[in-house]
Amino acid sequence: MHASALAEAELLAVSESALAGELVDVRPQVLGSVAYVTFGLANGSALSERALSWLSNLAATFALFVLEPDGKLTPLSLARWDELDSDLLTIQKYTGKTNEVFTKLLLNLTLAASSFAGERRALSVLDPLCGRGTTLNQALMYGFHATGVEHDRKDYEAYALFIQRWVKDKRFKHTAVAGHVKGHPKLDLAFGLDKTRFKAGDTRRLSYVNADTHAIAEVFAPRSFDLIVTDAPYGVQHGAQAGAAISRRPLGLLTSALPIWRNALRPGGAIGIAWNNLVLRRDALVRLLEQHALEVRDSVAYRRFEHRVDASIQRDLVAARAVTPP
Ligand SMILES: C[S@@+](CC[C@H](N)C(=O)[O-])C[C@H]1O[C@@H](n2cnc3c(N)ncnc32)[C@H](O)[C@@H]1O
Repeated sequence: MHASALAEAELLAVSESALAGELVDVRPQVLGSVAYVTFGLANGSALSERALSWLSNLAATFALFVLEPDGKLTPLSLARWDELDSDLLTIQKYTGKTNEVFTKLLLNLTLAASSFAGERRALSVLDPLCGRGTTLNQALMYGFHATGVEHDRKDYEAYALFIQRWVKDKRFKHTAVAGHVKGHPKLDLAFGLDKTRFKAGDTRRLSYVNADTHAIAEVFAPRSFDLIVTDAPYGVQHGAQAGAAISRRPLGLLTSALPIWRNALRPGGAIGIAWNNLVLRRDALVRLLEQHALEVRDSVAYRRFEHRVDASIQRDLVAARAVTPP
């Protein structure tokens, strides 16, 4: 990943859509031979609690400092949203996995684009093309409820096994129910961070369905989700065995699935999509989103996320808010 450019773009986009432009003058700077991203505060005001909260959770943030007038760095304590151990995101390794830092970036930008950017509650996140759950894991990490739909049976079985083992290994009080919904295999998992919270019903829920994404219309009630976050098929084959599971026509898939996803979104909710812009032009995707009453964040900041993954994948992302009923 082009870490510094993406970090600057994330900072700018979050400042613009979640912090009323509080962070300004974002730029790369090398201090003592280490690359940093620096920024200023609009009106030279003190850093707000809300800005500190967002800055602490940007995908690129490892540490946060005040750059003093004499050039010294004073560390600030981070206010992380993470509720779970980071191995939830890093243990699984498989071909076709979406980079977990990029997934965090996409979730952050989708949250920032929604009307819920200032709320700290357990939002409901859907990944309608969820693979082995990188988005679901990041959503759980933030204390959100996660729902995923994936049509590949092997992926379904692998993640269903992984996540149940993970909550067991972490000794979380939990319930796991493997069943079916409208004929599709489904796992429902609920866990509490400790016994007391579990008993009080303070749980995080994961639902994972093995179905085609178009089944969302029959499986979930309309307006069930606050955020939809997904990494669309790249239209290329990852490795020898993966071909059958990868749609070669992201536009066809997005055209038919988007109205269904839009219906699943609550008013004020947002959708974030990552895709390969070598097989689908940004303009075409933006038009499609707008046709479904989605207000696309299309400022300069949001147009700076395009980056090369490999020779056949030029990844970009888009975030859009559901403004009116579909
Ligand atoms: C780019 S991958 C997402 C990977 C995922 N973010 C992860 O890290 O595991 C796209 C996923 O969409 C799934 N997919 C493609 N078409 C689908 C469809 N019509 N319904 C459900 N899943 C689909 C593929 O099987 C693949 O797992």
